[in-house]
Amino acid sequence: MWPFAMVLAAILLAFAIAAYWLEGRVRDQALTDRVLAVRTLLKQKIAKDADLMQATLRALMANRVVRDALQRQDRDALQRELGSLFATLRDQHRITHLYVNDANLVNVLRLHSPVNHGDVISRFTATRARDTGQPVHGLELGPLGTLTLRLVMPWQVDGRVIGYLEMGEEIGYVVDELHDSLGVDSFVLVDKRFILHRQWQYGLELLQRLGQWEQFDNRVLVAQTTAQFPPAISAAVLTRLRQGATEVIQTDGKAMHLAMLPLLDVAGQPIGELVVMRDIEGLQQTFFKSVLSVIGLSLAAGLGVLALFYVALGRVDRDYQRQHDLEHQLLRLDNEHQRIVQLEKMSALGTMVGEIAHQLNNPLVGVVNLAQLAAREADDPARTRELLAEIRRAGEDCHAFITSMLRFAKVSKFERHATDLAQVVQETVLMFRQTVQGQIQVEMNFPEEAVVLEVDPILLRHALFNLLLNAAQATEGAGAIQISLQAQPHPDTGAPGWVLTVRDHGKGIAPEILDQVFSPFFTTRRDGTGLGLPVVQHVALLHQGFVSVENLPEGGTQFAIWLPQTHSTGPISADQTKPKLTHVAQDIGRR
Ligand SMILES: Nc1ncnc2c1ncn2[C@@H]1O[C@H](COP(=O)(O)OP(=O)(O)OP(=O)(O)O)[C@@H](O)[C@H]1O
Ligand SMILES: [Mg+2]
Repeated sequence: MWPFAMVLAAILLAFAIAAYWLEGRVRDQALTDRVLAVRTLLKQKIAKDADLMQATLRALMANRVVRDALQRQDRDALQRELGSLFATLRDQHRITHLYVNDANLVNVLRLHSPVNHGDVISRFTATRARDTGQPVHGLELGPLGTLTLRLVMPWQVDGRVIGYLEMGEEIGYVVDELHDSLGVDSFVLVDKRFILHRQWQYGLELLQRLGQWEQFDNRVLVAQTTAQFPPAISAAVLTRLRQGATEVIQTDGKAMHLAMLPLLDVAGQPIGELVVMRDIEGLQQTFFKSVLSVIGLSLAAGLGVLALFYVALGRVDRDYQRQHDLEHQLLRLDNEHQRIVQLEKMSALGTMVGEIAHQLNNPLVGVVNLAQLAAREADDPARTRELLAEIRRAGEDCHAFITSMLRFAKVSKFERHATDLAQVVQETVLMFRQTVQGQIQVEMNFPEEAVVLEVDPILLRHALFNLLLNAAQATEGAGAIQISLQAQPHPDTGAPGWVLTVRDHGKGIAPEILDQVFSPFFTTRRDGTGLGLPVVQHVALLHQGFVSVENLPEGGTQFAIWLPQTHSTGPISADQTKPKLTHVAQDIGRR
């Protein structure tokens, strides 16, 4: 369970890391795109505004009154003529500067600051316009620390320059427009090397701007689109932005994404940077919500799978436990069974020893008693001979008993081979006829096909002989003994096999002793050893078969030996063939 949970956690972690990384990439790419758009828009805006300024100045140059006033250097006339125009341009078109300079670039009038005049304008735009005789425009720093888009146009009359008109728009307005068009905030930072502290301070108050000179070592803020410069933008952040990286900062509880664009003035000199800032709070919130919901769903699905797994494992575990318990019980039963079998063996051995002792003891006691009697009556030869004959009979009884014991012992030698069962039966009946005295009829009934099985013919003959002998001993009248062989499957397993039955019409077996007849030494006959049926049972078991007994309703007993089908049934050789259906009735000697 735990390894599975760990794998699930690892997958979720990998997913979260991948999603975070991807979000960073997407975010960076979006900002890079915006920065490029800002750069393009800035360029376009500068070009468009410069065009508009140029058109305005051209229109202004057509004004004779103004021209005459410039040529006369009449500041009041210029102020009168241009004052209302500048006010309109400032209020409606965000023009912040309007200069009227003479042909030597000496300032005649600053419409935006009329008190300052008489100084020489030596900025790049002015000198360049003078040198080329062409209008020049571009971003340029002013004396008050303002970064301004300026256009300087030479005013020529009849091929002679009578003066220069200069118009300017503060960068603050430019970045405001960028904000309106692209929805990004920006800050203009200028290198302190190009601005004097005092002038910057003056400009700050004059133009009512916000800013702190000491905020950064080498930069100062000159324009911004937000009310406040985010305090999280430190010098270290600026350094990293200058190296081309993007940064995410937290300001007013919102995530802001920053990038930087270098700013060049009209002379191509790097003068500072434009910091572009985009609010990504909403984007991040959406992203985190999406990732969290995906992780939540995955977690729920994973936990569901884990729960299913847990239930399934629990079931398997319970099944395994049940099986294990069953196996354990079986093993215990098996051990118990072995123990009982061992006990039974010991008990059977005890019975056997007792029986053997009993069987041998009786004649031996008789021999001792008869020998003592013979010793006492040695004077009477006739009596002595009679006693000796008794002793011989007792000895013969012992001998008969030991012979039958030896016959029983022989059963353990077991050699099986393909054997025609009918032939075994016929040979046994022949032997039986020679052994048993008296008249008794034996009938045999076999299938048409020869039945050939893998058996030990000697042991089988021995078993059948015992059954015939018992049948003969039980038969009192003229009833015949019937032997038959027929195919019959095993009653429990259904395995194919054959059953050899011996049926007599004798006295039958009393029901109370029916289950004892296979016990060794069990006998109801005075001269019996009780080993005949145990031999039959042993032989059947050696052949993986069994023997059964039943009393017949019409009187008499039937013994049946079941043998498994171990060899193909069919004729085996010419000398082993026998009549198709044998019904042999033989009169044989009755014992
Ligand atoms: N066909 C039968 N009819 C009636 N009783 C039988 C028959 N076969 C066996 N019995 C009974 O089963 C007992 C045991 O038979 P078993 O063959 O084992 O021993 P036995 O015949 O008594 O002695 P042994 O065969 O050693 O000379 C017999 O004493 C007899 O009571
Ligand atoms: Mg017997």
